[in-house]
Amino acid sequence: MADHPVILVTGASRGIGAAVVSWLAAVGAGVAMVARSAAKLDALAGEITGLGGTPLILAGDIASADFCARAVARTHATFGRMDALINNAGTFEPVALTADAEPEAWQRALAVNLLGPFYLSRAALPALRTRQGRIVNVSSGAATRALPAAGAYCVSKAGLNHFTRVLAAEEPAVTSVAVRPGVVDTDMQALIRRKGPTAMPAEQVAFYRRLKADGLLEPPRIPARSIAWLALRAPSAWSGKFLDYDDPELHQPALDFFGERPGN
Ligand SMILES: NC(=O)c1ccc[n+]([C@@H]2O[C@H](COP(=O)([O-])OP(=O)(O)OC[C@H]3O[C@@H](n4cnc5c(N)ncnc54)[C@H](OP(=O)(O)O)[C@@H]3O)[C@@H](O)[C@H]2O)c1
Repeated sequence: MADHPVILVTGASRGIGAAVVSWLAAVGAGVAMVARSAAKLDALAGEITGLGGTPLILAGDIASADFCARAVARTHATFGRMDALINNAGTFEPVALTADAEPEAWQRALAVNLLGPFYLSRAALPALRTRQGRIVNVSSGAATRALPAAGAYCVSKAGLNHFTRVLAAEEPAVTSVAVRPGVVDTDMQALIRRKGPTAMPAEQVAFYRRLKADGLLEPPRIPARSIAWLALRAPSAWSGKFLDYDDPELHQPALDFFGERPGN
């Protein structure tokens, strides 16, 4: 393990996070996998080992500062180092217009999408500094676009982008970037198609449904490859930036590094 990178990935149980972990396993990384569903993480662990990675399962809720501190401490205790943190876990809910949204639902969204990354970054910074490590915050186009009925999501992702800039300003030894993964064929998109009609404008719902029907959603492995590459190789000059997963300056080196892989 001595020369293999160690990376903590949140939201590792499915979707983009599970695909990120697969790419990292293929280069022999130690991967600390965070999500609430222990059963799903357990089910993935064998696959990660088979690909050449070393999994560490950390089941819990990133809305808890205590859990986040323990997750980082266990990662360090298990592997003896930590090279990167990928803040990927997120929630799209509540799907509700501002006038109708429950305060508790907004609090929950901000706790998962913004406070979780803060708790984990805060806990990981001492270890990341010693490794000249990286923080990759998985953001969204919603950080800069106003989506009706997704206020808490938009605001939390905008906050995550600015948190990335603050980290870059405060921590010169750590490279911190935010990345937009595109529109990706995961449970989150299924939720938008299912719950969107309760509160979103009809044309917005139609847009998301058409992307699925026309096969235009990205498979998770494509943005995941860019995200995994950022965790391993993002240049320090990029610290503070909000990147597009398909920007050729990111997509091409990620493709050169990891190659192609079929499936999701
Ligand atoms: N899919 C898209 O089109 C899209 C577009 C733009 C940005 N993104 C961003 O990409 C990231 C990944 O999205 P995805 O599409 O892969 O979502 P997803 O399929 O819904 O998966 C979300 C992951 O986060 C975990 N998670 C959720 N809440 C958690 C919590 N409180 N504590 C710990 N883990 C938690 C889930 O596992 P458990 O349920 O087991 O906890 C799951 O592993 C998110 O940050 C999302 O905002 C996605």
